[in-house]
Amino acid sequence: MKKTIVANWKMNTTLAEAKSLSRIVARGLKKLSRRDVILCPPFVWLEAVSEVLKKENKQVKLAAQNVFFADKGSFTGEISPVMIKELCQFVIIGHSERRRFLQENDEMINKKVHAALNNNLIPIVCVGEFEKTEGLPNPEIVSDNQTYGSIFHQLSQSLVGVSKEDIKKTIIAYEPVWAIGTGNPASPEYAKRTIGSLRDRLTIIYDRETACKIKILYGGSVDANNSQEFLREEQIDGILVGGASLKAEEFVKICKR
Ligand code: PGA
Repeated sequence: MKKTIVANWKMNTTLAEAKSLSRIVARGLKKLSRRDVILCPPFVWLEAVSEVLKKENKQVKLAAQNVFFADKGSFTGEISPVMIKELCQFVIIGHSERRRFLQENDEMINKKVHAALNNNLIPIVCVGEFEKTEGLPNPEIVSDNQTYGSIFHQLSQSLVGVSKEDIKKTIIAYEPVWAIGTGNPASPEYAKRTIGSLRDRLTIIYDRETACKIKILYGGSVDANNSQEFLREEQIDGILVGGASLKAEEFVKICKR
């Protein structure tokens, strides 16, 4: 399976910075076909970045960082999947920063996943525990263990009603909250083990064959120094990069690892 590398710019970049960052990345990755690279600029720069990518490198794809769950209507300030589907193919859903600062819950995330799929957008669904533990995750326990319970619960609830066909296209990003933006990533061993348990949970919800087709990425303080450790693990299907994706040369390096 080709590894996927997602660049989550979060609420960063001016228009000029977004164009320049995407241009350098697109040019730097011209000959790189062994990775799927997806840039996630803020909504307002999607169109400008899509123009840059069309011109410089069509292999680099685009995602929005969020989407609303209705196609249109009286939802002041929101952006619908119908609006973004002309500009991008993917959308991040349920990032922990949205769960934390905007009180997004599993039910809303589930509605967003369906809204995205109904509009042919591929969801990148984020799940992650708040605290680190040493115990072995048990995918059969979905709610009575604070840490692993919550990731399996997040996963199951976010995917309620998603068909086998749709889940195969969906990307899951395992992002332990304690590792995001801290410079303290999970060890590749910890990430691999938890991703394995998420896949076991997906096997319980769907079946093994389906679960094996779903890409599960790791995210949390990935940079050019540690990216290779995650990318070389067979069980980790790619990485989601925040802070380090804003530095053009560093991000190109990460993708080429
Ligand atoms: P980070 O962010 O790479 O800056 O830790 C990852 C994320 O939140 O997507």
